[in-house]
Amino acid sequence: MIDPATFCGDAEEKLRAEVPGRAIVAASGGIDSTTVALLAERALGERARSIFVDTGLLRAHEVDKVSAFFRESGLHFEVLSASDRFFAALDGVSEPEEKRRRIGETFIRLFEAEAERFGTDRLIQGTIAPDWIESGGSLRDTIKTHHNVGGIPEDSRLVLVEPLRDLYKDEVRAVARFLGIPSAERQPFPGPGLAVRVNGPVTPDRVRRARVANAIVEEEVERAVATGEMKRPWQYFAVLLPVRTVGVTGDNRVYGEAVSVRIVDSLDAMTAVAMDVPRPVLSRIAERITRELTQEVVRVLYDVTDKPPATIEWE
Ligand code: XMP
Repeated sequence: MIDPATFCGDAEEKLRAEVPGRAIVAASGGIDSTTVALLAERALGERARSIFVDTGLLRAHEVDKVSAFFRESGLHFEVLSASDRFFAALDGVSEPEEKRRRIGETFIRLFEAEAERFGTDRLIQGTIAPDWIESGGSLRDTIKTHHNVGGIPEDSRLVLVEPLRDLYKDEVRAVARFLGIPSAERQPFPGPGLAVRVNGPVTPDRVRRARVANAIVEEEVERAVATGEMKRPWQYFAVLLPVRTVGVTGDNRVYGEAVSVRIVDSLDAMTAVAMDVPRPVLSRIAERITRELTQEVVRVLYDVTDKPPATIEWE
């Protein structure tokens, strides 16, 4: 395990060496990128500008929560509204790697434009060790192209700066705690956002359903953790499945969609175990999802698969 104080000192020194002028920071609001954003602020001050992109694929209230925290932290940042760009890039795409590639490319093109506006070619981002390990290298199979690694076109002028690339999640959390990031215990959320929790086509309507279902799983699990009904999982979320299924509301047949709930325990996301969640918690989740998405989602499943053989996210 690293010593957070030593790590931060070294990382800030390296940042100053690697960024002679200005830099932009890809800040998603997650622990990894918030940690690099604060390191960049400490090392470079106003020479670093964090860019938070509203992709339209974020969780409920994410834009407000992240902006509020960035403001409180005194970070130099900007919010970029780009949901139209992302939905256009994803139009008609169902294949998971193609989704990641298009999202990655859309991010990079936005960051290129922002970098140019800010007068730099340096992009600081929060890549951590499992991101590039699972994205494959010369000796490894590609499990998933993590969006912050894939999608960087060969013609890009951007020079990447990745202060966390040798750290694992528990080490990043230690650094985040040291820097006073209150969300250090927050569950991970993938860079491609709800696009990889909407299996099949990504439309604004399907993303809205996934957003509602994800919020319900988060609220019910967090309530159960607070009352001691279950221990805090590593990750807990919902996935909208690409199947139609029959349900009944009142006297009426409904031909709706299905949601799978995923609640796993893990140490570093490299392996994970599907948790044995108390049945009442699952029942509350199923009841709320089918009620709050009435006529839209008619069936809720619980995913009991470990990693391996499955991965944590479905795509
Ligand atoms: P998997 O699904 O590969 O995920 O078992 C391992 C961990 O990584 C998260 N994840 C991502 N994080 N960009 C990210 O920043 C991505 O593209 C991405 N894909 C998966 C996932 O939520 C889990 O914690």
